[in-house]
Amino acid sequence: MSQDLVAAPSGAAPARVRGLSLWYGTFRALDRVTLDVAPGEILSMIGPSGCGKSTLLRCFNRMNEQSYVRMEGDLEVAGYDVMSRSTDSLALRRDVGMVFQRPNPLPISIRENVLFGLRLHAPKTPRSVAEGMMESALQQVALWELVKDKLDRDAESLSLEARQKLCIARLLPLKPKVLLFDEPCSALDPDGTAAVEELMDEMRGTFTQVVVTHNMQQARRVSDRCVFMLMGELVEVAPTAELFTHPKDERTAKYIEGRYG
Ligand SMILES: Nc1ncnc2c1ncn2[C@@H]1O[C@H](COP(=O)(O)OP(=O)(O)O)[C@@H](O)[C@H]1O
Ligand SMILES: [Mg+2]
Repeated sequence: MSQDLVAAPSGAAPARVRGLSLWYGTFRALDRVTLDVAPGEILSMIGPSGCGKSTLLRCFNRMNEQSYVRMEGDLEVAGYDVMSRSTDSLALRRDVGMVFQRPNPLPISIRENVLFGLRLHAPKTPRSVAEGMMESALQQVALWELVKDKLDRDAESLSLEARQKLCIARLLPLKPKVLLFDEPCSALDPDGTAAVEELMDEMRGTFTQVVVTHNMQQARRVSDRCVFMLMGELVEVAPTAELFTHPKDERTAKYIEGRYG
């Protein structure tokens, strides 16, 4: 880390969003979003396609940094001031990991995928320590038994479900504070979906998890609280059971009744 870049203080809130707006050119994709994410919770984000779920999630680890993107408001994630130029993006992405829709392991071995983050962020980690961290990450995602005898095989030889678990495992040696999931199960079959949801459930409390899903049933199954978004606006956030049974906003009610799209 270079000297003028600022690291995050420990004990900070997982995420604190205040009046966050984002424009792609002249198109406003986020409209004054305000939200707090609580430590250890699973927060889901639902809403019709194009409402800004992925855009908001990408802001959390600074993946919207193209030249035609403009942002306004305050955003603090894992103690990093995301809007500040002096914040170190590499450190932010170490503490705030992202899992995508399509499992995207690197075209290297299973072992090297899990060790990749450590090589980048903590290159001096002794080999035996790194091996231990790799094993425990693979244990944590319930992949160890499947892969322990083939760690040097190409990650792409694994099933889609195992590849997605590997993409989660490779974040863990860095001890992230927040995990972001953008429709993590949409490429998986029902068994794979159940396995990833189970994994998220097991990580509840250990990590703070924010999950974008187009699947309302998934939001109901996995999340403690749920955000409903519409046209870039955060319409409502509430405990998941409450949002689905007693939505406060009429637009939320219409959406969960299936009246949009
Ligand atoms: N990189 C981009 N450049 C321009 N417009 C974008 C970009 N990404 C998303 N958008 C637009 O912003 C809006 C929100 O998109 P997105 O955040 O992907 O929504 P969601 O994840 O809810 O489907 C959509 O109208 C989309 O077309
Ligand atoms: Mg999306």
